Amino acid sequence: MAALIGTSWKMNLTLAEADHWLSTFRPLAGELPWVDFFVLPPFTALALARERLAGSGIAWGAQDVSPFANGAHTGDVSAAMLADLGCRYVEVGHAERRRDHGEDPAMIAAKVRAILGVGMDVVLCTGEPDEAPVEVAIPAVMADIGRCLDGVVTADLGRVVIAYEPIWAIGEGRRPAPSDRVGHIHRAIAERLGGTGANRSRIIYGGSVDAASAPRLLAEPGVDGLFIGRHGLDPLGFAAIARATPAPQQAGIR
Ligand code: PGA
Repeated sequence: MAALIGTSWKMNLTLAEADHWLSTFRPLAGELPWVDFFVLPPFTALALARERLAGSGIAWGAQDVSPFANGAHTGDVSAAMLADLGCRYVEVGHAERRRDHGEDPAMIAAKVRAILGVGMDVVLCTGEPDEAPVEVAIPAVMADIGRCLDGVVTADLGRVVIAYEPIWAIGEGRRPAPSDRVGHIHRAIAERLGGTGANRSRIIYGGSVDAASAPRLLAEPGVDGLFIGRHGLDPLGFAAIARATPAPQQAGIR
């Protein structure tokens, strides 16, 4: 399966900056046809992403969604609205939303059901708060995934990307988790989630990934891709990270 390399701009980029990012990155992505890309701009730049990425094969989507279908929820945006706009992905469960908005797994699960219910794909972020031994981190992560995917059937797992994002590795001043730890945890998640072929979740790693750390993270069995924050805000930096994905040995193999 192709590596999945995504970025969330978080609360960054004006429309002019977004335009620059999208027009710079589009041709660079074209040089890496063996990579699956997704970009998650803020709501304000989604319509621009639709316009600038049309026909490119680069997927795009939103960083949040309301758990409610419609109605009196001022300031919120529904899954149906995002699907109508053309979003493929919606991110949920990011540590910053849990921190800033008190989102708990029940709320995240409601958002997951809303996203899947209108045919979009989920990027579910999960990760342990501190660098605990893997024997402690794995059950914590699995418990969170179980609660956030409450009500999701195995047949839908192929539409759920798990972004393993240890909270202690996210953001300015942090470093990526060691790649052997990441691989260990990804393989444990894959084994416990089950699902095969098209019904298998892709498991990508996020947390301070840059061009220097990407090759060793991607070389780890169980790492299906990467989720990039601050080092993806520069489209050239994002493309440099994506170049770490090994090209297929033979044309036609993905
Ligand atoms: P970072 O963000 O790459 O800036 O650490 C990652 C994320 O939050 O997904």
